[in-house]
Amino acid sequence: MNSTPATRARHVAIIMDGNGRWAKQRHLPRVVGHQRGVEAVRTLVRSLADSDLECLTLYAFSSENWKRPEDEVSDLMNLMRRFIKSDLEEFIANGVKLAIIGDWRGLAPDIVALLEDALARTANGTRTVAVALNYGSQQEIARAARMAADEGEVSAEAIERHLFTTGLPPLDLLIRTSGEVRLSNFLLWQAAYAEMLFLDVLWPDFTPAHLAGALDQFAGRERRFGGR
Ligand code: FPP
Repeated sequence: MNSTPATRARHVAIIMDGNGRWAKQRHLPRVVGHQRGVEAVRTLVRSLADSDLECLTLYAFSSENWKRPEDEVSDLMNLMRRFIKSDLEEFIANGVKLAIIGDWRGLAPDIVALLEDALARTANGTRTVAVALNYGSQQEIARAARMAADEGEVSAEAIERHLFTTGLPPLDLLIRTSGEVRLSNFLLWQAAYAEMLFLDVLWPDFTPAHLAGALDQFAGRERRFGGR
């Protein structure tokens, strides 16, 4: 009897994939795909003001992304710097509360400082945008298990308390763009009962209408949580 009709989603996470292919299709450098990816993020975050979603989590940089060519990593970091500087005031004005998951303190010191400032200045926001930076889910679970063990209780509940996402609403829906069907080390624990949606749209082409469609689809799904 664990089945409940789905209601509105509180927490949606997105694997933003396909920037490179978007650029390649247009014979443009990859960095242009990432720039357009940032535009898609900006538009989506703006649209949250008109939605009742409580939390949007975005996979911006994985712990595996360091393996990309140095200039691409550097482009992504520069986009991050620029995005925080240009959009922070708008985040604050729109009641966005920033959260960061992952080993973000391992990023360059100036980015860490920008993020610390952004976290402090958005702390009173009412809807959360969580950005995964230098994030890997297996590493997150191992870290949480270590912390739980240090406290003498290795249970699912104890591990969950030490995940980066503790305090965020439970994950309802996980979306991946670009047509790839895999989780790529993102929110493996949190996705245990989440609905999944794999969309055949490249990230720079993702619009608030895609999110609205995904939320409608979610509302129509019946969730089972292991029951019947
Ligand atoms: C996947 O495209 C996307 C990424 C590796 C990074 C996602 C980052 C952004 C959308 C911009 C930065 C975000 C913020 C919040 C400033 P890909 O390069 O893997 O595409 P491909 O698989 O088509 O090559």
